Amino acid sequence: MLAIEDIHVSYGRLRALKGISLTVAKGEIVCLIGPNGAGKSTTLAAIAGGVAASKGHIKLEGQDLAGVRPETIARMGVSLVPEGRHVFGTLSVAENLRVGTYMRADRSAVAADIERVLAMFPRLRERITSPAGRLSGGEQQMLVIARALLTKPRLLLVDEPSLGLAPKIVDQVYEILLAARQQEGLTLLINEQSSHRILKHADRIYVIRNGHIQLEGKAADLADGEAIKRAYFGFGEAASGDANEEEDAA
Ligand SMILES: Nc1ncnc2c1ncn2[C@@H]1O[C@H](COP(=O)(O)OP(=O)(O)OP(=O)(O)O)[C@@H](O)[C@H]1O
Ligand SMILES: [Mg+2]
Repeated sequence: MLAIEDIHVSYGRLRALKGISLTVAKGEIVCLIGPNGAGKSTTLAAIAGGVAASKGHIKLEGQDLAGVRPETIARMGVSLVPEGRHVFGTLSVAENLRVGTYMRADRSAVAADIERVLAMFPRLRERITSPAGRLSGGEQQMLVIARALLTKPRLLLVDEPSLGLAPKIVDQVYEILLAARQQEGLTLLINEQSSHRILKHADRIYVIRNGHIQLEGKAADLADGEAIKRAYFGFGEAASGDANEEEDAA
């Protein structure tokens, strides 16, 4: 469904992506794991059309996205859930969800789709009239994912859904993403800083560091975490690295 071939992205003189290649097959859940500043968000932004690659290709079902505007890429079925759970804090959960439907032409299907999404997120239904700003972090993460699902994406890009959430809530968020894949035929590319709870939910993993892909593999093959740790910190650094830092990342 998605094929990224050797893309380079710079912000002025800073080279953020130095030749990233990755693929996501239809129906897969692929996680891009890497430390702060590795280039994870930049990769998602490049796919969604927010930043331009100076070199390389991004192809969505064979179509090159170079020069295609973000709105057009969204209409082609790509939805980005940015980092930071941007909800409209004073609007209710219901109003936040309706925002996800503004772009759609099939107005008559909207009510049924909101109903279907709420069936997937019972917690949001309970809080449907609450201002979104009053929700917990986990609930806000579910709300931004639910809102993105209402744009009817085929490819959902999610930037660090786990950030700052309790482990149990992280699992709940992933269970919903897995259910969405099942029910909506969704394909997912998800950024995370840590692989610890993610390996059991993802199909494949890429480790990115310093603008390069360091490691790629099936989540099942990487389950012991050792290869990921080495790629994440770099080979030399892993041996002499700060034990606490490794603890945090793993
Ligand atoms: N808008 C920007 N302008 C200038 N430099 C940027 C911009 N966005 C990111 N960068 C730089 O590009 C590099 C990659 O950043 P990016 O945000 O893609 O990393 P990340 O893996 O998402 O990190 P994090 O885990 O902190 O979100 C970093 O060195 C970062 O400082
Ligand atoms: Mg980021």
